[in-house]
Order: sequence, then C-alpha cells, then structure tokens
Amino acid sequence: MSELFLLADATASAQNLSIFSPASPSAESIRSLFILVLAVCAAIFLLVEGVLLYSVVRSRRGRPERTEPPQVYGSMPIEIAWTVAPMLIVFLIALILTRTEFEVRVNPDTPPPGSKPLYVTVIGHQWWWEYVYDKNDGQDVGLITANELHVPASEEGVPRPVYLTLKSADVCHSFWVPRLGGKTDLIPGRTNHMWFQTSQQGLYLGQCAEYCGTQHAHMLLRVNVDSTDDFQNWLDNQRKPAADDPSARAGRDLFLSLSCINCHRVRGTIASGTYAPDLTHLMSRQTLASGMVPNTREDLRRWVIDPRQTKLGCLMPAFGLSDLQVDLIVSYLVTLK
Ligand code: CUA
Repeated sequence: MSELFLLADATASAQNLSIFSPASPSAESIRSLFILVLAVCAAIFLLVEGVLLYSVVRSRRGRPERTEPPQVYGSMPIEIAWTVAPMLIVFLIALILTRTEFEVRVNPDTPPPGSKPLYVTVIGHQWWWEYVYDKNDGQDVGLITANELHVPASEEGVPRPVYLTLKSADVCHSFWVPRLGGKTDLIPGRTNHMWFQTSQQGLYLGQCAEYCGTQHAHMLLRVNVDSTDDFQNWLDNQRKPAADDPSARAGRDLFLSLSCINCHRVRGTIASGTYAPDLTHLMSRQTLASGMVPNTREDLRRWVIDPRQTKLGCLMPAFGLSDLQVDLIVSYLVTLK
C-alpha cells in the first residue's frame, strides 16, 4: 500500500479524475450536457415537490374547512398541458444530445485542416493496455508500447487531435480518462473509436470502466500529454530497437532462453511474443502492472519472482526461478531504457 501512496504523492497534480474539469472538447461537451440535464431534472423535481408540499400543507388535517379540496375530473387543457410540456422537454434534450453525440464522435478520416493528428490503436487485455502507434502527423509510426500513453499537447494554431481505435484481445473493457473524454468500450470482435485533444500538458489518469475480471480495478490508465519536443524525443526513443548493454548480456541470454519470449516482445531480439506487454523500452515507463506500482528495481524483482504477489490473478505465472536467475533477468530488464 505504501507504494500506492508514494505513487499518489508523485503525481498529486494528476489525481484530478473529475468530469467537472474537462481538458478536451469532447469531455467539455459531455459536462455541458450533464449540467443541462441535471438543471432540467432539478427544475422538474422542485416544481413537482413544491406543488406536492403545498397541497400537503394546504389540505392537512385539523383544518375542517379544507377537509376535501375541490375534485376535478377530465380537464382537457390540463391533460394537454401535462402531455405536451414533457414532450417538448424530451424533444429539446434529444436535440442537444444529438449535437453532443456529433461533437464526441468525430470522423478520424477527416481531421481539422491544419491539425497534426495522432492515431493510436488501443487493445484491451486482461489486465493491461496495449498501444499501437499507427500514424503521427501523416507519417507511419508502427511502434507498440503498453500501459502508458504519450500524446502531444496542442499548440496555439496547431491542434493535435488524438484518434483512438479501440479493440479487445479478450473480454469487454472500457477506456475512460474522465478529463479527456467519455467512456468508450473495447469489445471483442468490434472496433470502436474515440478522440480527444488538449493543450494542457501533464499526466491524466483513468481507469478501465467495464468489469473485465479479477483485476478490473487495477487496470489503470495513464495518459501523458507532452510538449511537442518531449513527445518527439519519446517517440524517437521508442522507435529504437532495445538497448544492448554489454554488462547485461548474461541476463539477456538467460531471458532469451526462457519462456519469457513466448509472451513478451523485445524489438531487436528473438523475443517476439505478442500476448503480454512489449518490453523493448520497459524502463521508460513509470509504473508496472498497468499503473499499480512504481517501476523500480525492487518492484520489478518482486514481479519477476511472482507477479501474482503484486497482481493476484495476473495471467503471468511464477516461473520458479532461482535467486541468481532473477538477479540476472532483472539486471537485463533495467537496461531496457
Ligand atoms: Cu478492463 Cu475492466
């Protein structure tokens, strides 16, 4: 637990998960719609409860002269009024809802003129996120990373919309970073889309919002909105093949001789598994286990020994490695900058 708190400290400014402080146009539209519907419902509630309370007070017992209020049967004007008024309200909300729907679901094929769009495919897994960077500013990227999304912030005059294509490798998940947009499900056999755009740099946290099994609650989202330069540096680093540190060769050889490579990919080596997170630049990530614990040597070691001590139910088993083997593998992993 102390690690979680440490993590919370380090990212205190990012702890804002409120839909009431949107940082992206689609999140803004959703907040406006919510406030409007809330206001209409509150007005109806006050009106109905007001009339009810008024009647209760007016007609309460102990006032013999008002024991029975006048009874009205079959009044056409009243019936028309209470049919037409709710219809108009529902119609008005439906119109505004439709407008919001258009603002939230933009067409990724036609980004605004002058913008530099980023296209990323998000694949939900039990219980982590895979990010495939498809295109940035018209150029193919084709790199894969996990759990921590990096996107560029929009600048004055240069919007940088981020278009996500959402898929699932197993069960239903839902991508939800409240300050950047609404929930969008990742459904097996179906492709969904969402977008966001923000000029406010920083870390945005989110959470899988569709129950997807034991570790649903620990399928955390981290979106880093970087400056243009930071994003470019990050992208350039991610594009490189994995580091090959001579001092970690023994660990690398051991890693590549074990079944790790059936599930994990380390670009530039024979490890080309696609079932589990890409480890090519593992140490460029701040957290492990989809945002659960900090990505430190100790936590990494504990993870390699038995992932289920950190994340119960995790699909990676303990491999019963000796202490020496664990040390070698961890010394290799920490070189994957
Ligand atoms: Cu993935 Cu809940």
